[in-house]
Amino acid sequence: MPTLIKNGTLITASDTFQADILIEGETISQIGKDLPHPSAEVIDAAGKLIMPGGIDPHVHLDLPMFGTVSSDDHYTGHKAAAFGGTTTAMDFVVQEDKGFEYSVDVWRKMSEKAAIDYSFHMNLTKFDDKIAKDIPNLMKMGVQTLKVFTAYNGKLRLDDGGIFKALRIAKENGMLIMAHCENGDVIEPFIADALAAGHTTPEWHALTRPKWGAVESSLRMAAMAEQADSPVYIVHMNAGGEVDMLKYARERGVKVMGETCPPYLFFSVDNLRQPDGAKWICSPPMRDKEDNARLWKGLHENTLQTIGTDHCPFFFDGTKPIMYEGKEVKIAGKELGKDNFTKIPNGLPGIQDRLPIMWTYGVRAGHITANQFVAYNCTNPAKIFGLYPKKGALIPGADADIAIWDPEKKIKYGVAHSHQRTDYNLYEGWEIVGYPEKVFLRGKMIVDGERWLGKSGDGQYLKRGIGEIL
Ligand code: URP
Ligand code: ZN
Ligand code: ZN
Repeated sequence: MPTLIKNGTLITASDTFQADILIEGETISQIGKDLPHPSAEVIDAAGKLIMPGGIDPHVHLDLPMFGTVSSDDHYTGHKAAAFGGTTTAMDFVVQEDKGFEYSVDVWRKMSEKAAIDYSFHMNLTKFDDKIAKDIPNLMKMGVQTLKVFTAYNGKLRLDDGGIFKALRIAKENGMLIMAHCENGDVIEPFIADALAAGHTTPEWHALTRPKWGAVESSLRMAAMAEQADSPVYIVHMNAGGEVDMLKYARERGVKVMGETCPPYLFFSVDNLRQPDGAKWICSPPMRDKEDNARLWKGLHENTLQTIGTDHCPFFFDGTKPIMYEGKEVKIAGKELGKDNFTKIPNGLPGIQDRLPIMWTYGVRAGHITANQFVAYNCTNPAKIFGLYPKKGALIPGADADIAIWDPEKKIKYGVAHSHQRTDYNLYEGWEIVGYPEKVFLRGKMIVDGERWLGKSGDGQYLKRGIGEIL
């Protein structure tokens, strides 16, 4: 039966207007005033906001790391995403020695339990002539993006020569390089010095990964992209200086785009100094208050292009089980590094938190407009990653991925409210005003208030094509 959402206020990346939306099958069939509804199920959305479902361009589900695994899988992470209004997530495939097809197949298998739509980026952590030849084949698998690292020496890092070659291959094939920007050559000696001096607490994670490394590496990446005449997308921008570099390069016509993640807007190295500081350990690390402010300004001024979560949750205390869907779950987590900050699994929860937190503390606080909120969280990721206008748009023909948002809903947020499968929440006790009330995935309601109507296997793999350079 068609669904007619009546009397809501639609928010897109560019406009805000009152209209009805008719959903037929999996797509939006009409948008207009006073649409007729002879046989449709009608949802009265008076006083509510209607937005495209969120698109999270950066998540890590089921990721083996630090001798454990990120604690949300492709079902639990997706369920949490949906409760927060997100209907598409993009995960990173680990590059296996057996080639890209094998690597993508491993991730396709793990994602069979998907509850929202999803697609993949490929981590490019090894590079030689054979791998170079194999890169274009990723497009046939629907994977248009490769992530490179300028840190994690001897593990994930490619040297600049390899990155430059990858940028050229990407350019030839309509692909996009994504870059994790820190300076591994600086980080390694800092870590060795810190450990030799007996510094083992979480704050040393941040102190050994200085922000200048992120700043120069972001500019280096932009400069290499310019020289390869290839676009580049810098993930998880965290230091204010990186935003300055992004602005500098973009003003000079370099095809560089930037993503930030909510924790970098709110938290600082001071959080790592708390007794529970390990909760904030991720890479790149939390910076300073001035960096928070510069990132906000970068969003306000549209210097940045997207907001992702880098959702990569671990338990704070993985020795104690939590209950998830009526079952005990216990997964080793941050306690692995209680005596050594280098052993703390890197990563933070956030897939559910992104939209509600950014609404209250971004839109309501006056940092960004409601239209920018939709642009950063929905439309721009869809455009950059080749999913637009199927995703990220409220237009006839688009997938009916829709969040009906109650702008007055008040919540004291925290772990008890969250479906993220971990034992803590970074925003514990924060007041939220505005929350998704109903969420649709391709026309099917998967969240209705507190009720979960989605299921494992509902999510579809999205083969992505060539994206736009924003
Ligand atoms: O600490 C983080 N962010 N873990 C996930 C991997 C990455 O570099 O994005
Ligand atoms: Zn990264
Ligand atoms: Zn990441």
